[in-house]
Amino acid sequence: MKNIRTALAGLLVASLATSCNQATKTDTTAAATTNSAAPPDTAALAKKPDWWKETVVYQLYPRSFQDSNGDGVGDLRGIISRLDYLKSLGVGSVWLNPIYTSPNDDNGYDISDYRQIQPEFGTMADFDELLRGLHARGIKLIMDVVVNHSSDEHPWFKSARASRTSPYRDYYYWWPAEKGTPPARFSTFDVQHNAWQYDAPTKSYYLHYFSKKQPDLNWTNPKVRQEVYSMMRFWADKGIDGFRMDAFQFVAKDPTFPPMPGLTAQNFVNAYNHGPHLHDYLREMNREVFSKYNLMTVAEGAGRNPQDAMLFVDPARKELDMTYHFDAVGIGNKQGKYQLSELKNVFTKWEQEFATKGWQSIYLGSHDQPRIVSRFGDDRPAFRVPSAKLLTTFLLSMHGTPYCYFGDELGMTNIRFSSIADYRDVAARNGYELVKSQGGSLPDYLASLKIFSRDNSRTPFQWNTAANAGFTTGTPWLQVNPNYTTINETAQNQDPNSILNHFRRAIAMRKQHKVLVYGQYQLLDAANPTIYAYTRTLGQEKALVVLNFSAEARSWALPAGLTLAGPPWLNNYPTLAATASLALQPWQAVVVPIR
Ligand code: GLC
Ligand code: CA
Repeated sequence: MKNIRTALAGLLVASLATSCNQATKTDTTAAATTNSAAPPDTAALAKKPDWWKETVVYQLYPRSFQDSNGDGVGDLRGIISRLDYLKSLGVGSVWLNPIYTSPNDDNGYDISDYRQIQPEFGTMADFDELLRGLHARGIKLIMDVVVNHSSDEHPWFKSARASRTSPYRDYYYWWPAEKGTPPARFSTFDVQHNAWQYDAPTKSYYLHYFSKKQPDLNWTNPKVRQEVYSMMRFWADKGIDGFRMDAFQFVAKDPTFPPMPGLTAQNFVNAYNHGPHLHDYLREMNREVFSKYNLMTVAEGAGRNPQDAMLFVDPARKELDMTYHFDAVGIGNKQGKYQLSELKNVFTKWEQEFATKGWQSIYLGSHDQPRIVSRFGDDRPAFRVPSAKLLTTFLLSMHGTPYCYFGDELGMTNIRFSSIADYRDVAARNGYELVKSQGGSLPDYLASLKIFSRDNSRTPFQWNTAANAGFTTGTPWLQVNPNYTTINETAQNQDPNSILNHFRRAIAMRKQHKVLVYGQYQLLDAANPTIYAYTRTLGQEKALVVLNFSAEARSWALPAGLTLAGPPWLNNYPTLAATASLALQPWQAVVVPIR
């Protein structure tokens, strides 16, 4: 029994820790059934176009995209050499995971200089060239802003930890040892889940919600906030186009640290994610930074529920443009299996809140999540291609800005390492230490990592059949998935029926049909266990999306009153057999105009 419990705790490290997960439980009964009320009118949003509503974001993990100098680490010159590839996809924006100077405890999410480029990624001149190259191709650049915490190697923290009278002491949270043990706080990456680290030089504990090399910045200190705004203006002045606010829902804390008994991996997110003055900080940031530029802003994390999330993005509040929530990526995170009804319920629930106000991001995968085809599709050889295309079809036909994670356009899969030595992620490695120290089952923990480790989606991009998939001429920092010999960009570029070319067609379709950006979403046949079907409607323009989430052929009866108005705009099979019902092939996905 103890073993099972410890293994489960370990698994939660892998899944929760990796995503700053929104521990909100999905309501599996309510959402997907209500469709009788008059549909909301989304047309008003279409009349107020914002570029960030119409863009498609490509999330690019710089460490793993393209190495230019053979040191095994992807870099900016590598990205520069692949700009035409990015252009060929049709994406409107690229979000780069952090590229600032960092000791790399958490792959760049621990920053030691917010105004310099990580040397292994290149120089500021490389950055400027990259930005120009993207802009020359009509692609915007979104930067990751990591300001819940800095690195413990940031000069602010080095000074702060050296003396209690340092001018930077109040840039962080301290608990002097003479006050006893600090009130418990939960840390996701810590080997003991303890967010307080004792620091001998000043006989005090400092707070770290993530690893002990990621001390939390003290947002109650106006100087910290001004430093952050000034740093953001520095990048905005360079001409970048947006900010992704890392872990932002956690920045606000009550500096008196009242007791929070019973914090666990399951409840800590909700306990932390709406601290005092969070929205004051965002409004201040908006005044100080966003209002002066034409930027897109998106927060990671969105509070406890869609109503909380609306507080971040209601335009009247002048805070952010979008958030992304974790409800969908929380699905199936125990056994690696899920019910389609869960996915429908989550997306429908969130859509209901955002139908006519605010804006959402739509995503299934990221650098914190496993590969989408391994998780939500079926990566067995017979079904990988159609299921990856189906997931692309879903992302590009929903209401909200699509975020497509690099490599998913090729249908890259989980690598499923067998040994802890192969993992690089701090979450996996520290999770392993935790399970070990608790005497838990290490084989069970390793099995869970095969499903959920973040390293599954961080393996190098698979360009071609050369050594290391053409990613590097050296030794890659993280192993290349051996399936690169069959799954790679060069092969797919040449094949009109590849996942890659389907991805390009899906983006082109979205650009052509504004109904897919702004149209009202209505779920059909909510109870169907294998078919996800919905319509999108914008004035006279209507589309039907039907996705067969199964490895079997299925027939789906067209609802009464719904008539197909032409051939599919997008189809992952050569044909669509349609009479009064659609005869769908395994994992078939279609977008069809309707009347
Ligand atoms: C966010 C990032 C994740 C990082 C964490 C701490 O969740 O997406 O990669 O580990 O914040 O910065
Ligand atoms: Ca390199």
